[in-house]
Amino acid sequence: MTAVLNDHDTPIELVCTEPGTPPRLAVRERTVREPERGMVLVKVEATSVNPIDARRAAGYGRRLLGLKGAGSFPLVLGNDLVGVVQAVGPQVQGIAVAQRVLGLVGTGRAGGAHASHVLVPAGLLVPAPAATDAAALAVLPYSFTTMWLAVRSAHLAVENARGLHVLVHGACGGLGQLALQLLSRWGARITGICAPGNRARCLAAGAADAIERSPGCIASLPPAFDAVLNFASWDDDAALASRLCVQARGHATTVHPLLANIDTHGWLRGAVRSRSDWAGMRRVVAAHAPHASYTWTVFQPQRPALEALAAGLRAGRFQLPIGVDLPFDRAGEAFQHVTSGRPGRAVLRPRMN
Ligand SMILES: NC(=O)c1ccc[n+]([C@@H]2O[C@H](COP(=O)([O-])OP(=O)(O)OC[C@H]3O[C@@H](n4cnc5c(N)ncnc54)[C@H](OP(=O)(O)O)[C@@H]3O)[C@@H](O)[C@H]2O)c1
Repeated sequence: MTAVLNDHDTPIELVCTEPGTPPRLAVRERTVREPERGMVLVKVEATSVNPIDARRAAGYGRRLLGLKGAGSFPLVLGNDLVGVVQAVGPQVQGIAVAQRVLGLVGTGRAGGAHASHVLVPAGLLVPAPAATDAAALAVLPYSFTTMWLAVRSAHLAVENARGLHVLVHGACGGLGQLALQLLSRWGARITGICAPGNRARCLAAGAADAIERSPGCIASLPPAFDAVLNFASWDDDAALASRLCVQARGHATTVHPLLANIDTHGWLRGAVRSRSDWAGMRRVVAAHAPHASYTWTVFQPQRPALEALAAGLRAGRFQLPIGVDLPFDRAGEAFQHVTSGRPGRAVLRPRMN
């Protein structure tokens, strides 16, 4: 394969060498290939560390993600990227060399976005605003896409959300804040559940009402919600479902035990247990809201979500606070930031400018 670099940077990648806590990380040189049909080579300005990266670095999800070829170490993690197009493969339309783009790398055999140069399917890239700092963009695609999948599976859309009552658990986390920003724009009436001290932030992000987490706080809410989005805790899923109203549309959770069950109990028992966990919660939802859907959201790249994100960015919407912004050779600090649940997202740059 031919190298296509036309700058003087040596291509590098951040490798997670083996599962461990703290993560075992190393920066290595990487080989860059010509983009094949439908692919684009992006020179990465910034990428991010999401909670899933921190957990995968410790070995989480190895069995199930192994089905996609993403379970064995050494592993290049990361799903988000913002950068500049360096080369386009045959049959790529609408993307040009030197264009600034934002996008997603799916979780798979080819490895993730923690690299200086990444090959990305053209369909998973959208134009990035020229004036916005790379850090502000790099923390959005994965979280926005997962939030979008949860919102859509709860049957919420721009056409129907106005006036609907939506309960968001984890409202000041990354997915929660993006859900507040999107759904308040759509006219939904949102109640956010957040950590103590975060009420004002939750209201500022778009919640009509916000409650700070305390024992029994979910049970104290009226059973009046048209949709529930659980971005915080599987242990709270049943309590949240009990707050759905009879006509509710749906309940989606991103914090289900699917990967952990397979990791802990193996394929067969893990699958049986997951089926039982899902079905048990489905019954709780149905008991309160007979017509509501119940979904375990699993991230996967989605072109419509990226297009909605790009449109929002053009209109000056969608942002998450940044906690740390570090070069690859200080990636351990970024992972530690995420693992310890400190406020703000974690940005990584192959090299600092
Ligand atoms: N299934 C998937 O494909 C998928 C994809 C993306 C994300 N996720 C998961 O979805 C969740 C949300 O993602 P994120 O990026 O928004 O994470 P995040 O930024 O870390 O936010 C998590 C939120 O949940 C709250 N929380 C954490 N543990 C809690 C507990 N035991 N009880 C109540 N609240 C709790 C946190 O509150 P504090 O302010 O107190 O920390 C925070 O507001 C994460 O667990 C993530 O791993 C799953």
